[in-house]
Amino acid sequence: MSSLLCKIEQIFKYMNILVTGGAGFIGSHTLIELYAAGHTAVVVDNLSNSNPESLRRVAKIIGTDSIPFHELDVRDRGGLNKLMEEQKFDACIHFAGLKAVGESVEKPWEYYENNISGTLTLVDVMRNHGCKNIIFSSSATVYGDPVEIPITEKCPKGQCTNPYGWTKSMLEQVLMDMQKADPEWNVVLLRYFNPVGAHPSGLIGENPNGIPNNLMPYITQVAVGKRPELGVFGNDYDTPDGTGVRDYIHVVDLARGHVCALKAIERKCGLEIFNLGTGHGYSVLDMVNAFIRVNGVKVPYSIKPRRAGDIATCYSNPAKAEKELGWKAQYGIEEMVRDSWNWQKLNPEGF
Ligand code: NAD
Ligand code: UD1
Repeated sequence: MSSLLCKIEQIFKYMNILVTGGAGFIGSHTLIELYAAGHTAVVVDNLSNSNPESLRRVAKIIGTDSIPFHELDVRDRGGLNKLMEEQKFDACIHFAGLKAVGESVEKPWEYYENNISGTLTLVDVMRNHGCKNIIFSSSATVYGDPVEIPITEKCPKGQCTNPYGWTKSMLEQVLMDMQKADPEWNVVLLRYFNPVGAHPSGLIGENPNGIPNNLMPYITQVAVGKRPELGVFGNDYDTPDGTGVRDYIHVVDLARGHVCALKAIERKCGLEIFNLGTGHGYSVLDMVNAFIRVNGVKVPYSIKPRRAGDIATCYSNPAKAEKELGWKAQYGIEEMVRDSWNWQKLNPEGF
């Protein structure tokens, strides 16, 4: 229960949260945790990378008829204005954005326009309606090739290797500058490490379009027979087994991190930045071998050249989130690979 995990009893106020991108992978899992903690939520999503079935399944898990949902683009100022005139929000959790790294290299304008215009429009409408509390989905990608491992929030930001990463880095700056100019804003930047896994029910999970960019959905698609083999991008890194090391985090833990981040908003934190990771680094082969062992399935793979833009090692020091939010990841690698497979197995074609 999230209540045990982040001492939720300290939150005496239930909030009404605007969740942009709530039909997506992380948003849908976060809705469950928000409701479990007693909050209410309204979803805004243009469904460009999601299926409304995810919200029906969230409602099923929560045990409610439906989740309030508006099919709306966050760049649609008129639509957002109307929604915020109709009801008051205590805070916004802003997931909406495009996130495919490779696609962002092919279509930089579309990424800058969607992610940056969308966020600028959203925060303008929010402040016009007196809602100045936002939790923003950022990424460990803003650290570039990090100058310290494990990475603390004090680690300087680095050079991103793709337009997607730059949208996150730039939007962090926009939100920081706005908060500095107007201290009524409370801005929480959450830097996610590598989200994997799915809700243990197997009802919701990650549903990538086309060929997966990320490791875990690629592994599950190989395991279910949709793809012949996994390519392991490089085994000559300076890591224990030569393959890339990352901080994989179960999406349910990540979702609970957002509920805990509301505590910072509630105590009027101003600007806060938190890493959301486990603090453990696993290699590509650690993940593949755990997946095979825990799930009893085959995952053929072969070693391929390094992928452009990849770094050897990236994992967090998540101590700040534990100290200040009372949040700590509860799930380990076994639950991550188990729940990823459970979702894929039960939903071979996604939603
Ligand atoms: P997702 O694609 O599953 O969810 C994003 C949702 O936003 C989708 O439902 C999509 O339809 C919606 N959306 C996109 N543009 C929109 C717009 N202009 N207006 C309204 N809705 C729009 O992605 P996710 O994995 O759930 O990621 C959520 C957020 O977290 C994103 O901002 C992403 O960049 C960030 N993030 C994700 C990861 C990851 O590995 N999944 C890592 C770091 C950061
Ligand atoms: C990638 C993005 C990052 C984004 C993050 C979460 C890049 C350069 N970075 O990070 O911006 O925030 O996803 O969405 O794309 N791997 C394979 N075979 C595969 C896929 C991946 O070996 O088919 C390896 C990679 O080389 C890496 C590890 O698996 O070592 C994790 O890759 P991935 O899941 O794509 O995440 P990141 O590269 O950490």
